Amino acid sequence: MGVQGVVLSGSGRLLLAQPHAAEPPRTLTPWAVLVRDGHIAWVGAPDEAPDTERWEDLGSALVTPGLVDAHTHPVFAGDRSDEAAARLAGQPYAAGGILRTMTATRAADDDTLRQLVVARLESALAGGTTTLEAKTGYGLSAAEELRALRLIREAAADVGIRVVRTFLGAHAVPPEAGSADDYVDTVITEMLPAVASEAQFCDVFCDDGFFSAAQAERLMTAARHHGLGVKLHAEQLARTGATELGVRLGATSVDHLEHLDAAGVAALAGSSTVATLLPGPTLVMRDHLPPARALLDAGVTVALATDANAGTYGNFSMPLVIGLGATVLGMTVEEALAAATAGGAAAIGLSASVGVIREGMAADLVAWDAEHEGAFALRLGAVRPVRIWVGGEERALH
Ligand code: NIG
Ligand code: FE
Repeated sequence: MGVQGVVLSGSGRLLLAQPHAAEPPRTLTPWAVLVRDGHIAWVGAPDEAPDTERWEDLGSALVTPGLVDAHTHPVFAGDRSDEAAARLAGQPYAAGGILRTMTATRAADDDTLRQLVVARLESALAGGTTTLEAKTGYGLSAAEELRALRLIREAAADVGIRVVRTFLGAHAVPPEAGSADDYVDTVITEMLPAVASEAQFCDVFCDDGFFSAAQAERLMTAARHHGLGVKLHAEQLARTGATELGVRLGATSVDHLEHLDAAGVAALAGSSTVATLLPGPTLVMRDHLPPARALLDAGVTVALATDANAGTYGNFSMPLVIGLGATVLGMTVEEALAAATAGGAAAIGLSASVGVIREGMAADLVAWDAEHEGAFALRLGAVRPVRIWVGGEERALH
């Protein structure tokens, strides 16, 4: 009689956890993992594996932790491809675009919007994302933001993907608000109390033409009082100091950072705030590349995420983001994988449960149609999962 659970094993590369900077990759070949009660119960060599009731051989496939997409905006209706084309022809990026999506999103009924979110989460899972951070931000009223948080919860349960939910009421100023200051008052006094129990984080678009550092500070302080972790969209359009604000207030992550300079890198070094980099919108906006190399060399924890949203980037594929990290952002493939797994987990406060393959962690695993992680760069965007487990449960691939 063997022990309970299933042993997965293989003759290929098991990427236990990927390093930052100069550490060597931690891989195991050949390998075996005991999965029990949704968790990883043991990791080691196949000939030392416990005798279990079930055993599955994954052959020579590359196996990694499930990918973590630490920054997405999946709750929206409508289509703004025309804006992307206009921007690439020279038009500026402005708040009007987010409000256009707000109008389309408010007009969509629950079933329609839920189906849109389900389809987006399914596409994320199909790319090997097993944990995803999902922001609101296209409702911009208490009722609509609460609806978005509920739909994310329902869609995630449908799809069988882990989600962390983030309230992004301060994404743009809706037309019914008198001013940005008035709207921040509304977010603090009406919206935060209504949504706090449905979210884990509060985010704010702290940038030129959106919310100021002073407004962001008021909001983040209030969010903390409601027990939420805080995040900022920082330094995307201009160097505003949002990074230093985030570090000072203990933000879990600051995201974007296209315009971050050496002083901003220094502010993040030695802090526990994660730098979440988003190469997708950077390319679609033809913006500066964020200083990934400088951040890594300074010892900052870096996450890579899609930022899939209605207006600046519309693709939930993390394999493509890993490939872009390793090509346009100047990271090594191992650093890019680390940023898409352990880094992403740190960016959403889940380092104790996901992002690495180790005893006690959730059994979130992906077997790829590749034998070496270099394929994420070589086959830019085309590496596909062949098997996916979330919490030890295998997910069907469509
Ligand atoms: O992360 N930067 C702010 N928000 C989104 C874009 C939102 C939109 O244009 O709809 C982003 O890029
Ligand atoms: Fe974003």
